[in-house]
Amino acid sequence: SDPNLVERARAAKAALGDRVFILGHHYQRDEVIEFADVTGDSFKLARDAAARPEAEFIVFCGVHFMAESADILTGENQQVVLPDLAAGCSMADMATAEQVAECWDVLTDAGIADVTVPVSYMNSSADIKAFTGRHGGTICTSSNAQRALEWAYEQGQKVLFLPDQHLGRNTAVRDMGFSLDDCVVYNPHKPNGGLTVEQLRDARMILWRGHCSVHGRFTLDSVNDVRERIPGVNVLVHPECRHEVVSAADMVGSTEYIIKALDAAEPGSKWAIGTELNLVRRLAKAHPDKEIVFLDRAVCFCSTMNRIDLPHLVWALESLVEGRVPNVITVDPETERYAKAALDRMLALP
Ligand code: 13P
Ligand code: SF4
Repeated sequence: SDPNLVERARAAKAALGDRVFILGHHYQRDEVIEFADVTGDSFKLARDAAARPEAEFIVFCGVHFMAESADILTGENQQVVLPDLAAGCSMADMATAEQVAECWDVLTDAGIADVTVPVSYMNSSADIKAFTGRHGGTICTSSNAQRALEWAYEQGQKVLFLPDQHLGRNTAVRDMGFSLDDCVVYNPHKPNGGLTVEQLRDARMILWRGHCSVHGRFTLDSVNDVRERIPGVNVLVHPECRHEVVSAADMVGSTEYIIKALDAAEPGSKWAIGTELNLVRRLAKAHPDKEIVFLDRAVCFCSTMNRIDLPHLVWALESLVEGRVPNVITVDPETERYAKAALDRMLALP
């Protein structure tokens, strides 16, 4: 690879000045984070994208659904660029517009659609966000899921939670006092979601059968092993982890929460972190006075987040300098209108 990439990135960024604003999710590589104007979790990045009306180009170093949300929340004259179009999210892909429309028909036939409020995790396509907005629901992220659910239960009796079953279950059971029996899992690959009408009518929380393949790798064994290996360790995990992992952990929160928890931690304290590896490595480097390890022994990057690397960022920035806008992410106006309604509801949550 080109040894001058860092220099080229600096030069292109300087040439663009205030015309470009670079956002970096916490799971991005160090070489990319170095050039980010702000870093954040999904919630913070959505807000920050909306707060830069003067930037012509928003270069989003993250995954596709984040760039779509940025496009929805930014102005007409702003363009959102994703440096590699292959940076998707396998969880977001687990709920398609057709599948979700079919699910709504199932709920309608069961007579419960009228009392069900959709709540969609940020990690979903613009289509799913639009579905959510059209049916009076809200978006949430891992940092406001409880508030979003509390709001939803003020509007209706049941929630359809898309697409991450773990975040939905963990929030309902761990933070809101639901029992596991209050939740059912809707499987889009089975007729009627694999559920009976009775199960649907009894459930308070209908969880979509989606998950994150990165956080799904952590198991109860990972937690037990690390507690054995490092006595006194604090286990801190992302709420996309399975319920048994979250239940066995000491602390649970979004990427931004994890960063703040370590900033506040005592020197000499020991931490096992259950989230993506780029972030855990960066945290270990930033806190040499604390012992910070990855929760599992196996390496665990998010492969799609990792697709954005320095060569792709340099290519995107240099294209902008040359007057070409590459990899523009656009959401059609109809989808945008309803998706924005759902996102605005989230941004207005107390
Ligand atoms: P955060 O909102 O915590 O940054 O999580 C985003 C994500 O994709 C986690 O897998
Ligand atoms: Fe999607 Fe999981 Fe990667 Fe987050 S870590 S972007 S949820 S695949």
